[in-house]
Amino acid sequence: MSDSEVVADIGEVPVSEPYNPNTVLIFDTTLRDGEQSPGATLTPEEKLTIARQLSRLGVDIIEAGFPAASPGDLEAVRQIAATVGREGRLGKDGRLRPPPIIAGLARANREDIDKAWEAVQPALRPRIHTFIATSDIHIKHKLRMTRQEVLHRVREMVSYAKAYCEDVEFSPEDAGRSDPEFLVEVLATAIEAGATTLNIPDTVGYTLPHEFGELIQYLRENTPGADKVIWSVHCHNDLGLATANTLAGIMAGARQAEVTVNGIGERAGNTALEEVVMALWVRRSVFGLDTNIITQEIYRTSEMVSRYTGMVVQPNKAIVGANAFAHEAGIHQDGVLKHRRTYEIMDAETIGLPQSKLVLGKHSGRHAFRVKLEEMGYRLAPDELEEAFRRFKVLADKKKTVTDADLEALISDQLSQPPETWHIETVQVQCGNNAIPTAVVRLRNLKTGEVFTEAGFGTGPVDAMYQGINRIVKVPNRLVEFRLEAITEGLDAQADVTVRIEAEPPQGPEDVSSGARRRRIFTGRGLDTDIVVASAKAYIQALNRLLATRAAEESTIAVRSTVAGDGL
Ligand code: KIV
Ligand code: ZN
Repeated sequence: MSDSEVVADIGEVPVSEPYNPNTVLIFDTTLRDGEQSPGATLTPEEKLTIARQLSRLGVDIIEAGFPAASPGDLEAVRQIAATVGREGRLGKDGRLRPPPIIAGLARANREDIDKAWEAVQPALRPRIHTFIATSDIHIKHKLRMTRQEVLHRVREMVSYAKAYCEDVEFSPEDAGRSDPEFLVEVLATAIEAGATTLNIPDTVGYTLPHEFGELIQYLRENTPGADKVIWSVHCHNDLGLATANTLAGIMAGARQAEVTVNGIGERAGNTALEEVVMALWVRRSVFGLDTNIITQEIYRTSEMVSRYTGMVVQPNKAIVGANAFAHEAGIHQDGVLKHRRTYEIMDAETIGLPQSKLVLGKHSGRHAFRVKLEEMGYRLAPDELEEAFRRFKVLADKKKTVTDADLEALISDQLSQPPETWHIETVQVQCGNNAIPTAVVRLRNLKTGEVFTEAGFGTGPVDAMYQGINRIVKVPNRLVEFRLEAITEGLDAQADVTVRIEAEPPQGPEDVSSGARRRRIFTGRGLDTDIVVASAKAYIQALNRLLATRAAEESTIAVRSTVAGDGL
C-alpha cells in the first residue's frame, strides 16, 4: 500500500507529544504477546507491514517483539525501530504526530536488556520494557528466588535499563495473583530506579473486574511516587474478562492499556484493542476519556492481522466479527430501517467497515475498480493496482458479481504473500467414488527457475495433491490444521482455505517465561473458486512462509557471526 500519506520527512516530525491525562495511551503488543499465540508466526516483512498499519491506526506504543528470543526477533524489532519508529504519521486531527514509541520486551537480566536496547535504539522514541514475576507461586516454582531477591533484581535491572534509555516500563508479572503489599514494595523500588511506566498484568486472566479495579486503585494510592509514572494495565482473557478488567483499570486511573488487534495472544488471548477503543468511544459520557486511535482504520487492521497470522476472527466477535453489524432477524431489520439507533450503538463506518453500493462484475473497468478500492480505503501503488486488477478479472470471469468481501479477501491476500520460493504452475486431480484419488502437480522454483512435476495419491483429492507437493518441495512438516470456508454464498462462491503447518523438528524461538522452545506454526491462506486449487495455494503459501522465515533467520545468524569474527 502507498505510504505517502503517513511517511513524513524526519526533519518535520515532532519528537514528543504533550501528556494529556484525559487520553488513554494505546500500547499494542500484537507483534509480541499476540505473536505468542500458536500459529501466529509472522515473517519480518509481515511484522513491518503490520507495524506500519498500527502506526497509521494511531497506536501510541508498539511493542515490536522480544529481542532476546532469537536473532530473527531482534532483527525484526530493529527494522521496525529504524523505519516505523522514525516516520511521522497523521493524527486524528489531520496534524503530523511523532512516530509511535517502539518498545522491546526484556526479562530482568542484563543480556535481555542489552538485546532489547540494541533492537529499539534506532527508534526516535525507544522504550525498554522489563519484567519479573511477583506472585509467590511464580517466585517459588518458576524463578526459585525469594521476595528479597526479586526486589533486589528489580532495583538493579530497572537502573540498568535506565542507563540506556530514558523511557523504561516495568511489569510485575502475574500481578493479578501477587500480594498487593509486596507489589507496592516492588513498584516503589521500580519508580526509585527510574521506571516511567508501571504496567500491571493479569497474566493468567484470573481477576474479576471489581478486584482488578480495586487493585489498581490500591497500588496508585499506596505506592510512593505513584504520581510520577503512567499506570498501565495488561489483561489476559482466560475467563473472557480481559476487556472488562482493562476498563475497570482505566476507571481506577490507568492511562495506558496494553492490547492486541482481535485480542490474539497466548491461550485465550489478550485484551482486544478494538473493544477497549470502541467502549471508550461509545460510552465517552461515562469515561470522559479519549484515545489517539483513528477508528476508521480498525477494520482494515483487524483484517490484515487476521490474514497474516491466520487467526480467523469469529463471526460474532465484538466490533470486527462478520456479524457485528449484520441484522438477520426481521424485527431488527425493521427497527434499523426505521431508525438506525434502535439496534445499533455505533455506525459501521466508524470502524471503517466497507459500506459501498457499487457492485463490480466482469465488465467493470480499471477506473471503476480503482474508485471502488478507494471507497474501501485502499490506495495502492500503480504496480499493486495493476496486479489487483488482473486478479479481479480472473475472479470476475468465474463469479457473476464480485462483492466487497471478495475484494477485501483478494486485496489482503495479495498484500500478504510471503516471498515466493515455490510457485504453482498446474494442479490437476482425479477423484470420485471407486477411484483412487490422484493428483498431478507442477511447481516452479522461482529461485532456480526449475520446473518439477510429480504425482501423488491420497485419501482424497487434497491429500493426493499435498503428497505431490511434498515430493517436490521436500520440507518435513506436519499439517496441524486445514479449514475451508466460503467467502460468499452461492455455488460460485470463492473457497477460502487456511492451513497451518509445523516444521519438523520444531524450531521456534525461546518462550518468554519458561525458556523452552516454542512451537512454530506457519499459516497459509488460499482463495479460489476451485477448492483443490485454493487448498494448493494455501499449502504453498505456508511452505513459502516457513522457507522465508528460515532463510531470514539463517542470514541474521550468518551476519552476526561475520561481525563477531571481525573481532568487534
Ligand atoms: O502477561 C504478562 O504478564 C506479560 C508480561 C511480560 C507483561 O505479557
Ligand atoms: Zn501478556
